[in-house]
Amino acid sequence: MSIIFNQEDKRFLLETQNTEYAFSIAYDRFLRHEYYGKKRDNAINYFKPIVKPFSVYNEGSGYDYSPTDSFLEIPFFGCGDYRCTALRIQGKNGDSCTFFEYKNYRIFKGKNKLKTIPCARSFYDTETLEITMYDKVTDCILKLYYTLFPDCDVIIRSFTVENKSDASVLIKKVMPLCLDIEGHNFDMISLYGAQANERNVQRSPLSIGSQSITSRRGASGHNFNPFLALVGKDTTEQNGEVYAFNLIYSGSFLDEVEVDTAGNTRVSVGLGEENFKYTLESNEIFESPEAVMLHSTEGIGDMSRKMHRFIRNAIVPETINDKKPIVLNTWESFLFDIKEDIVLKFADEAAKYGADTLVIDDGWFGKRNNDSAGLGDWYVNKEKFPNGLKSVAERVKSTGLKFGIWIEPEMVNSDSDLYREHPDWCLRVHGRIPSTSRNQLVLDMCNPEVRNYIKKSLLNVFEGVPLDYVKWDFNRNLSEVGSYYLDATKQEETWYRWQLGVYELYFWFRETFPNVFLENCSGGGGRYDLAMMALSDQIWTSDNTNAGDRTLIQYGSSIAYPACVMSCHVSNPGNDENSIKVFNNKFHVALGGMLGYEYNIIEAEQRIKDEMLKQTELYRKVEDLVKCGDLYRLIVPIENDLGVYSYCYTASEDMTEKAWERILVTYLQTFGTDNDIYFSLKIPVSDENAVYTDVLSNEKYTGKELKSGINIKATAYDAFSLIYYFKRCEE
Ligand code: DGJ
Repeated sequence: MSIIFNQEDKRFLLETQNTEYAFSIAYDRFLRHEYYGKKRDNAINYFKPIVKPFSVYNEGSGYDYSPTDSFLEIPFFGCGDYRCTALRIQGKNGDSCTFFEYKNYRIFKGKNKLKTIPCARSFYDTETLEITMYDKVTDCILKLYYTLFPDCDVIIRSFTVENKSDASVLIKKVMPLCLDIEGHNFDMISLYGAQANERNVQRSPLSIGSQSITSRRGASGHNFNPFLALVGKDTTEQNGEVYAFNLIYSGSFLDEVEVDTAGNTRVSVGLGEENFKYTLESNEIFESPEAVMLHSTEGIGDMSRKMHRFIRNAIVPETINDKKPIVLNTWESFLFDIKEDIVLKFADEAAKYGADTLVIDDGWFGKRNNDSAGLGDWYVNKEKFPNGLKSVAERVKSTGLKFGIWIEPEMVNSDSDLYREHPDWCLRVHGRIPSTSRNQLVLDMCNPEVRNYIKKSLLNVFEGVPLDYVKWDFNRNLSEVGSYYLDATKQEETWYRWQLGVYELYFWFRETFPNVFLENCSGGGGRYDLAMMALSDQIWTSDNTNAGDRTLIQYGSSIAYPACVMSCHVSNPGNDENSIKVFNNKFHVALGGMLGYEYNIIEAEQRIKDEMLKQTELYRKVEDLVKCGDLYRLIVPIENDLGVYSYCYTASEDMTEKAWERILVTYLQTFGTDNDIYFSLKIPVSDENAVYTDVLSNEKYTGKELKSGINIKATAYDAFSLIYYFKRCEE
């Protein structure tokens, strides 16, 4: 058993392979947080705060339990905890002083599935603790859930609120994860960026007071990712303490870290308060999103590998082991100027040179000749595709390829039939003109009529089309967030209800098109979050396919997310004397994730196409290793004249083969140097008793040689990269 309740000291002990999480029932009513971290030999007594004047305490407990200073398992708003709190509910009396008392618990195998939001699924040793609490003032029941994934050292937390009263209540703040940690001697790692520059890694020391990363965009966004870590001051890629957190949600979020003046740290992860409100009707149940936490004492690399393992097993669709498509996408070659004859020529070439899926990107529907018209009108553009979609799909498939297409269902252009007919179907607030972004408006997904319209249009346009792949895009964030469908009292709930509408559409799509491979996109990686990873098969990482930039974007992405979700395309290499080098360099970068292409294969030189065939053949040999193997960042990229970025995959428990059978090592330079450099690349993740062949050069190396370092000559050229694919020789 990983979850134990000790009756004597009323302590819940949650154990994963290497970690321990403890909290206890105090004075039969409160939940006192005790500990989260490395497994201990003996349960240590709970944290006893030094209580100061002006602290609040409860009669009966005195300062032994003070909401102001004690470590709390779920801190409520308004009852004397002045730190950031986890739950705020306004009842029928009008105040939002929130308090739930402990009632009972239940432990069960596996976990519950959320109905309204994407969530993790259990795998073989998953176990859940359910704690029930009750508030007699609002007559609401709060259920806290802790689900353990022991072999990845992951615990996820969420809660539900059930309104048993006759009146509605207003939920104003929801933070499913709230964790008190003793001390504050940590750095905070977060991932920030922008469109085409996603997921830069920032590491900064904690300061007294509150620091947060947040999205107020109605999407997780390019700018701040919901992933957050606290690491020890001396933590490195290989060593040291790491607490990592994430949220399985795609809308606005808040990750807050507050260091109180006593020097202790509270981390909270959830929906926040600013862009969230929810009226819970009588007898309705509200589900919070699930928040993820992980602790490691073995550095950032170990944390990433465990997080990757968790995501592979509990988040992404179970079809992960199927071969991923090698896509050739039309976007970068033709933008909106896509036509039937081009698609067919593209398909003929793609089929000869190793792609297995042709994707028609934007521009195929409505009056979509640029980004100012057509969104919302999901009928094929007959000027571009005179024989219809079914015919073009069948002809693409007759080449042996699979057929894919682009959609952006949550959006509308004001220059569209849909908008002309239903101007009230986009997000808007009374008296204000809705702002456009990329010339488009956001559809009101709170409105079931809107969702039904989208469903019908997609069913209609794809009827009879042998569809294998869909790229679902989302090219702006929300503004003027109001809904003509909701009444005035619920306008501020539009943010959250809109997100629930989006999820309902995604759930429908996956059920209706169960065999379609779904690639998520938001102007690149603008919804690169765990909820979208649960809903789609992979995510377009970034619109930036420049090898140097992309190396850094993929490095940042790999901190929190596995290669199996990271869609990586090799783009146009140019056609000068360096084109082969550039093409291979882009391929080496793309090999960090799931391979695809986006260049004009019709106009490409023969040598580029021949190279593509070789690349795709190699990719198929290593795909499983990249997708399901363990990632070791041997040298993390540094922002200098020379950046070195190395990946090494080793066999993991997910795979049937023994450890260290095959090792893929990628050496990537993000910038050129003034001179060639010589150095020794150590590959510690190998079996020192084995002999390996690098299948790409046929050179033999002993495991000892790999560990002590192989000699590399890096040329000054910035598009320089190397790959090694070591295989253990038969004994
Ligand atoms: C943004 C995406 O990131 C691109 O790949 C492409 O699909 C365009 N949208 C199409 O409008």
